[in-house]
Amino acid sequence: MTSSAPRPSSTLAPDLHLGEPMTDTMHAEFVALLDALARAADATWLDAFDAWVAHTKQHFAQEETWMEEMRLGPRHCHASQHRHVLNVAGEVRRQVAEEGRFAKGRQLVGELREWFAWHVKSMDAVLVEALRERGIVQVDQAAHVAPVV
Ligand SMILES: [Fe+2]
Ligand SMILES: [Fe+2]
Repeated sequence: MTSSAPRPSSTLAPDLHLGEPMTDTMHAEFVALLDALARAADATWLDAFDAWVAHTKQHFAQEETWMEEMRLGPRHCHASQHRHVLNVAGEVRRQVAEEGRFAKGRQLVGELREWFAWHVKSMDAVLVEALRERGIVQVDQAAHVAPVV
C-alpha cells in the first residue's frame, strides 16, 4: 500500500474515485489485487488470495483508525462490514484450501466486486466526507463522489 500522489487508476472505475489520495490508491490496489485473483490459476490462487487479504486488512485498518480518531458516528457499522467481509473471506479460503472448492472462491471474487462498489459509494464516501469537513485530508472536488444515501 502506498500513500503516494493521487493518480487515477485504470483499475478503479471513475464512479469509485472519492478524491482522497490515500483512499483512492488503496481502492485501486484492492481492485488490482482482485483482478489478479480472478486471473490466477488454481495453483497460485491461494497466494493471490492471501495477497488480497493482507492488503485488505491494512486498507480496512487505515479507515478504522481515521474513524476512531474522528469518533465518527457510523464507525461501528462501517467496521463491522469490514469484519464481516474478512470473516467470509477466511471461511471461503478454508473451503478452497481444505476442500478444493475453487468455484466457491471464484464466486466470492465476483461478490466482492459488487460489495466493494456499494461500500465505497456509501460507507467510504461518508468517511472521506468527514475527513474533508475536518480538514484532515485534501479532497479533489473534481473527483469527489457524494455519499449515496
Ligand atoms: Fe475502503
Ligand atoms: Fe470501508
